Amino acid sequence: MSYNNIISEENNGITTITINRSKKLNALNRETIQELHEAFNHADNDADTKVIIVTGSGEKAFVAGADISEFSDFDVSKGTQLAAKGQELLFNFVENLSTPVIAAVNGFALGGGLELAMAAHFRVASDNAKLGLPEVSLGVIPGYGGTQRLPQLVGKGRAMEMIMTAGMIDANQALSYGLVNHVTTQDELLPLCEKIAAKISRNSTVAISAAIRAINANFKDGVDGFSVEVLEFGNCFGTDDFEEGTTAFLQKRKADFPGK
Ligand code: COA
Repeated sequence: MSYNNIISEENNGITTITINRSKKLNALNRETIQELHEAFNHADNDADTKVIIVTGSGEKAFVAGADISEFSDFDVSKGTQLAAKGQELLFNFVENLSTPVIAAVNGFALGGGLELAMAAHFRVASDNAKLGLPEVSLGVIPGYGGTQRLPQLVGKGRAMEMIMTAGMIDANQALSYGLVNHVTTQDELLPLCEKIAAKISRNSTVAISAAIRAINANFKDGVDGFSVEVLEFGNCFGTDDFEEGTTAFLQKRKADFPGK
């Protein structure tokens, strides 16, 4: 598939989606959000893709936010629609994918950029990364899930401070907050993400998808995550991956999961 604003490539079971508007620091305009939706959807339905990595092109930015030029003249109704549509097409969509998504944060991750990184299942950053939700400096608040996912990841007090100050934190502070799992050099960022992805790929894709659903259930209103876990755990017993995983263990060999 070809896109105007992103590049999506599959290699050895890993689909890397690169946001490719480096002149605009990979800011998310409407078309980019639509293309990201299509690329994530395609990768999630691609039997060869075991892990998705999302990153930004260039050495300066992962994503410097939603494209401010597109919404500067919006009214209340258009603003509401912008957030609702974006959450549906990209941010909630990514969080609920069956395929693991790693955000490789290679520079500025601001506003919608940090929100996209937070919608991914976990994050790895390069040492030049700067992360923040600067929306209140523009007279708005985060609208792509930032007010919800940031406190989930770093705690309420830190999220309040980050959002109220509109400030940026560096990669090491993000690491100490638990906002990113690892910090490495820019050169090593994709290789490290690929190494983690390769480790994930050796496990049962069916079980991993079930684990994503169970973990996400912990953060959904009105859903009892423990009940979801019981259901998902039980369902694993009906899969070929479970049969292969347990048989391989008992036969003292490595499992070769069929992925169903
Ligand atoms: N939306 C639209 N365009 C953006 C953008 C955004 N969120 N972030 C950066 N750009 C554009 C700039 O307008 C500039 O375009 P131009 O060359 O046509 O003028 C280009 O990307 C380069 O950005 P620039 O500001 O010149 O780079 P810098 O190194 O001086 O500053 C930032 C980098 C990230 C600090 C700065 O670009 C910034 O503050 N961006 C907005 C961050 C933000 O508020 N995001 C939340 C949006 S809700």
